[in-house]
Amino acid sequence: MSTTPVSTRQVSNRFRAEEVEGCLLEYNSATTIPPRFYSDPAVFELEKEHLLKSSWIPVGHISEVGKPGDYFTVDFCEEPVLVIRDRADKLHALSNVCVHRNFPVAHDRGNCNLLRCRYHNWIYNLDGTLRGAPLMENARDFSAGDWRLHEFHLEVWRGFIFVNMERGPVPELAPRLADLEPKFLRHETDDMVYFEMGEFDLEANWKCVVDIFAENYHTDSVHEISLGDSVPAGKTVIENTNMPAYCLFRLPSGDNSDILNPDDYSLTGGFALPGNLDESDMNAAVGGIVFPNFSWYFNPDLLFITQINPQTHNRTTGRYGIGVSKEAAEAPDFTEKFEAYKQSAKLVIDEDFWGITQMYRGKRSGFAVQGRTSHSEATLWHFHKWYIESLQSSAPEIFE
Ligand code: FES
Ligand SMILES: [Fe+2]
Repeated sequence: MSTTPVSTRQVSNRFRAEEVEGCLLEYNSATTIPPRFYSDPAVFELEKEHLLKSSWIPVGHISEVGKPGDYFTVDFCEEPVLVIRDRADKLHALSNVCVHRNFPVAHDRGNCNLLRCRYHNWIYNLDGTLRGAPLMENARDFSAGDWRLHEFHLEVWRGFIFVNMERGPVPELAPRLADLEPKFLRHETDDMVYFEMGEFDLEANWKCVVDIFAENYHTDSVHEISLGDSVPAGKTVIENTNMPAYCLFRLPSGDNSDILNPDDYSLTGGFALPGNLDESDMNAAVGGIVFPNFSWYFNPDLLFITQINPQTHNRTTGRYGIGVSKEAAEAPDFTEKFEAYKQSAKLVIDEDFWGITQMYRGKRSGFAVQGRTSHSEATLWHFHKWYIESLQSSAPEIFE
């Protein structure tokens, strides 16, 4: 039924019912999101306004901004964002755009006493309020106290900082993740220490990145060299696809598995384990996506996080790294273990990046069709269904 291309290369700001109805069927009958939803700039503009900018977006871990003055920057949908801890220990997510002539106020990451825009030296307090502006005494009715950097919604969930750009009130994130919370609590993610491993800037639509991290079906092929048969697609367990805010898959370990064996359920690093793991945590890797773009993957001894930042329809940036227990981070052999882990994990992530960019090449084809999905990637179907349903509910007017 779906070997015919659905109006490929068409640029349209309306979605036709026949384009999306296949995504809403049960997973064993469903088709994937239409290829043009990945390659059409008009679709990206719609999802940016009606989905991405009103979603809770993961930007980092609290261990990255542990002290007053600590900050980091991130661009999301080409919107510069600054996350900073003020002197009263409060976290802020600020628009990183100076109110004078719109220069980015902060760059990269670091620690500061005040924020100084390097274009004309306007100075901001750590909460984003304007403290002073040089040579402005002749500007009529100008008072620094009337100006500040725009502040976004910020929520910390189990140690992870989420930002929401919606201008009006937004529903809290935590209630929607209540069922997922025990897993993060047992891994003590509030107290874990995050170590960055790399950044990326890919010519690909953001959904290609989410798609690859949403399923384990590709490991037998894309990761054949790095992982071999340690995480076979056929062993993927998807117990539930009813969760409204996230998808999740599990890779139970084999009968004779030793979870500290790096050949099993790759890639463990042999780090000290958090104290509260139960048997299910010890005998499985568990991965998933908090929709739309929080990608996480637990092994017993670490949490692998990939931050996925859509910028344009064909450009996605991000960074990736691991969180480990404090005990693991303070162990004398941590550096050595981390370096070894980084090397093997780099092989895997580079294979994923290759897979993502190749997938995007195909999505742009005039002959690309909406495919069918394996039971082993029901999590991908879950994400696609959520995506279509979210757009339908937030912007029904864009559907014909
Ligand atoms: S743009 Fe920031 S001080 Fe001028
Ligand atoms: Fe992968």
